[in-house]
Amino acid sequence: MHPAYRSSTQISVPRGARVLLVAAMVFTSTVSLATAQSDATPLPGATPVAGAGISSEPFGESDGQPVERYTLTNANGMQVSILTYGATVQSIMAPDRDGTIANVALGFDNLDDYVTRSPYFGSIVGRYANRIANGQFTLEGETYELAINNEPNTLHGGNKGFDKQIWAATEVENEDGPALQLSYTSPDGEEGYPGTLEVSVTYTLTGNNELRIDYTATTDAPTVVNLSNHTYFNLAGEGSGNVYDHELQLNTSNFTPVDETLIPTGEIAPVAGTAFDFTSQRPIGEGIRDASDEQIMIGLGYDHNFVLDREGPDDTSMIEAARVTDPASGRVMTVTTTEPGVQFYSGNFLNGAFGGPSGVAYRQGDGFCLETQHFPDSPNQPDFPTTELRPDEEFTSTTVYAFSTD
Ligand code: GLA
Repeated sequence: MHPAYRSSTQISVPRGARVLLVAAMVFTSTVSLATAQSDATPLPGATPVAGAGISSEPFGESDGQPVERYTLTNANGMQVSILTYGATVQSIMAPDRDGTIANVALGFDNLDDYVTRSPYFGSIVGRYANRIANGQFTLEGETYELAINNEPNTLHGGNKGFDKQIWAATEVENEDGPALQLSYTSPDGEEGYPGTLEVSVTYTLTGNNELRIDYTATTDAPTVVNLSNHTYFNLAGEGSGNVYDHELQLNTSNFTPVDETLIPTGEIAPVAGTAFDFTSQRPIGEGIRDASDEQIMIGLGYDHNFVLDREGPDDTSMIEAARVTDPASGRVMTVTTTEPGVQFYSGNFLNGAFGGPSGVAYRQGDGFCLETQHFPDSPNQPDFPTTELRPDEEFTSTTVYAFSTD
């Protein structure tokens, strides 16, 4: 047991103290933010872009239900496209050090691929992101049986998790730039989870080239919640090969080792001196072939929860979790979060069976995920920060993916 997590609490606030999203106005059609907000002014050196704001278009149908694609554009010309299917980040168009724009998120250009083969590309994963051992947990004396979709465990919410639901979208303008709020009501008993869960995820594209994700959830009965975004990044551009030359730094002195089914053993182990030591920047590929590291062998690379270096169990302040640099393009991404952990996944299961918009097949290591989250299997691990949510609480969580160049 790690002392930092002896008596930890869920990131939640009493209903009365809710921090409300600063939503100034609600738009029903394309809006222009080019002149509307001071924070939406371009970064120094950037040319203001006409058409900054939000646009939307149909993106096919799933189960007879229409799916929309929304595109957020900021004053620098950076664009993020989001699907109502899975509240999915479909593409992130970001400049390199010469100003050349590329899509740094793996994904598909059609809905059918998302429905039939997506390994959670860009999606919101829930009700419980990551794994719960044997698809089972006990809460207030009641044992719940969940869908087993990753033998012998449940993964990312079960057979039809939040990544496969169609979310209701509302265009909002908050003080930092164009934003899209996506809402979903998960019925009591869905995939085995108790309580009706009202979930909201707001994506904001700020004038500082940040993609901010604000999550909230409330329940009408005790339940467990762990929400994350599952974007696979390649800062050289999707379809450009593997990410092993990307330099990664994680502000994590410890990680949670796993058993052969990728369930944490309960240990919080120091990374020092191992392939898991990213406390100083190092290439993703440097330790990935370290066959002497049992954890690398189990994960087929990195597929582990890293424990953020926080002040203590109640520290839910926004801290930098990760910094990734692609030396070739100069693109840099930082990840800042309120969450206690981050799952670093090196795209180990991408096997070349499908490709993305560039027409290039995705193979092992062609993207990486930094899924900010609570630790896997927390409902069965009393010493991990709790993921329980009760009707008098509100779950809140924020993660910012910030893009720049060096
Ligand atoms: C998560 C898991 C991985 C894998 C991917 C999706 O990152 O930890 O093991 O299931 O999702 O393929």
